[in-house]
Amino acid sequence: MKKQELGQGLAVSAVGMGCMGLSHAYGKPTDEKEAIDLIRLAVEEGCTFFDTAECYGTPEDPHHNERIVGEALAPYRDQVIIGTKFGLGFDLNDGRVNHALVPDARPEVIRSSVEGSLKRLKTDHIDLYYQHRQDPNVPVEEVAQVMSDLIREGKVLHWGLSEVDEDVIRRAHTVCPLAAVQNRYSMMARHYETIFPILEELGIGLVAFSPMANGLLTGAYGKGSSFEKDGTDYRAVMPQFTDEAMEQNAGLFALLNDLASEHDATPAQISLAWMICKKPWIVPIPGTRKPERLRENLGAASIDLSPDEVAAIDEALDSMEMSEVFGGSPTN
Ligand SMILES: NC(=O)c1ccc[n+]([C@@H]2O[C@H](COP(=O)([O-])OP(=O)(O)OC[C@H]3O[C@@H](n4cnc5c(N)ncnc54)[C@H](OP(=O)(O)O)[C@@H]3O)[C@@H](O)[C@H]2O)c1
Repeated sequence: MKKQELGQGLAVSAVGMGCMGLSHAYGKPTDEKEAIDLIRLAVEEGCTFFDTAECYGTPEDPHHNERIVGEALAPYRDQVIIGTKFGLGFDLNDGRVNHALVPDARPEVIRSSVEGSLKRLKTDHIDLYYQHRQDPNVPVEEVAQVMSDLIREGKVLHWGLSEVDEDVIRRAHTVCPLAAVQNRYSMMARHYETIFPILEELGIGLVAFSPMANGLLTGAYGKGSSFEKDGTDYRAVMPQFTDEAMEQNAGLFALLNDLASEHDATPAQISLAWMICKKPWIVPIPGTRKPERLRENLGAASIDLSPDEVAAIDEALDSMEMSEVFGGSPTN
């Protein structure tokens, strides 16, 4: 598969694999063997970039995701780039489906997190270590200093930040250069295009999370789509999956379908190729629990959209009616 380059010379497959949904936010965790087989299938299909986090799991098994990612990738450790995240937990007493987020990036907490992640990931180094959310009580400069120490110790090779704006990026990068920012980015959530100039200026890559708007852009969902109401599937409360949203997004679905037939591709592939072809330093990390969908998503790397086509899509998106899209869980 072709590669894209994040910051600090970190080259990864043009499409990564987001592993979160195997443990968290999209229903009950996937059977462990199936999840491990799926991650290994991604490696066989040419994916070299895997995304997980310390906090992806369940109340009973809070680090489920890192554990299965570590198990699955152990035989391929030297061929893959593993990204994981620290500094965030969930408020499990929060009655909402999408529990409130609880940031905690005190240096001693990071120190203990990194040891836990290394153990679960069955490795002696983390390729890309992100602060999951900003902690209002710990300035990012202090976190960057801890990262600088961890990089010197060889426990972390590169670091990044998630859901951050220009000010935080600049302050962090001054203390310890960033390789990547992992923010929400899709055809429905383009607000972070405002940070593209600073990413370009500082040579930092963008890892796009929820790149298919939590699955909506695949075209696989429509009116009447329903999700587990047992509190394990966040899509049950996401605004883009309501019947009304399906009507509001009709133009977007039509655009995706037209481009898909033109390029002998699928809507999911077009939604990913659009960002890959926009900048050589943007890498989407779509998530799925199904082998066929995994192959489909990784196939987006071989779809070429010209700069004119990307610009025309942007223009169409600028003026298109769209529903609201999920913007993340509240922070405590
Ligand atoms: N940094 C952060 O704060 C943050 C936040 C959220 C996510 N992330 C990362 O980003 C990754 C991806 O984000 P995401 O999972 O939220 O959103 P996404 O990749 O936009 O969408 C995932 C959803 O789409 C469905 N899907 C995937 N491929 C499909 C296909 N080809 N056809 C039809 N449906 C398809 C999946 O369902 P099935 O599983 O049923 O296929 C899943 O429900 C996560 O795995 C995680 O690693 C990071």
